[in-house]
Amino acid sequence: MKLFSSVNDVKDVPALVARALQLKQNPYAHQHLGKNKTLSLVFLNPSLRTRMSTQKAALNLGMNVIVLNIDKEGWALELRDNVIMNGTTVEHIREAAGVMGEYSDIIGVRSFPGLKDREEDYSESIFNKFVEFCKVPVVSLESATRHPLQSLADLVTIEELKTKARPKVVLTWAPHIKALPQAVPNSFAEWMCKADVDFTIAHPAGYELCADFTNGATITHNQDEAIKDADFIYVKNWSAYEPYGAVTGGNEGWMLTNAKLDAVAPNAKVMHCLPVRRDLELSSEILDGPKSVVIHEAGNRVWAAQAVLKQMLETL
Ligand code: CP
Repeated sequence: MKLFSSVNDVKDVPALVARALQLKQNPYAHQHLGKNKTLSLVFLNPSLRTRMSTQKAALNLGMNVIVLNIDKEGWALELRDNVIMNGTTVEHIREAAGVMGEYSDIIGVRSFPGLKDREEDYSESIFNKFVEFCKVPVVSLESATRHPLQSLADLVTIEELKTKARPKVVLTWAPHIKALPQAVPNSFAEWMCKADVDFTIAHPAGYELCADFTNGATITHNQDEAIKDADFIYVKNWSAYEPYGAVTGGNEGWMLTNAKLDAVAPNAKVMHCLPVRRDLELSSEILDGPKSVVIHEAGNRVWAAQAVLKQMLETL
């Protein structure tokens, strides 16, 4: 595997999930694979889980790791071509990514969308420039439109905790005060549509995701109907795809509570990628109660990253 940017880069999704669960049982069995190999993790945006879990995964495989918070510690990057660099940018992504490739066997990149220009964000121009210019295998640490390491960890979590062969999985929109990217819900939808699950997406009118990611899902504006008898409920806010990046008020009632779960989904396990804003996006009573699996889910980020890195190391 030379690129991990979406579920479409994975030949056999069930095999990758199984590998992640095997690595969880035996984390240090493949330390020889990463000996004298370097993973560079390049962040254009903040991170807790992705940074720590991917670093831990690489160390488990015997790799060396370099972390660069390029937004804070690097030279100001120019991302556009054909511009005279007489403004605030100091280094072009062509040289910066090329140099990083000289120091790395695999590079991970995190680059969020601007949420202003849909065409620009959905072209994945920043992530794709790193891929083009660094000339080594690249793992997405979340890009403008997808978060595949998160989605793989989510699928690993569902596989691990499910109590029936084909569980009902619901992605439900949640309230927030900021305009958030569509990367996590896009990606979760894309992975669930390829998994052996009964998948529903619930959101208020106006928060339709790009149809490219939701093909095969049941989509509804009725949250209670959607979560009825769910086995897993994935809570996440996202801003509108159309008009792009918009946030409309009046949907505070979409926050999941124990009362809602007790009424229609008493056996549901509640997931969230984190970070989560308590009692805005998701109620504290759920986060602190037995139905929440958010910490377990975050723990599985290590095994998801390790499964991907192992496959990349095997094909270097
Ligand atoms: N879920 C997730 O990607 O968390 P971070 O943004 O903290 O990495």
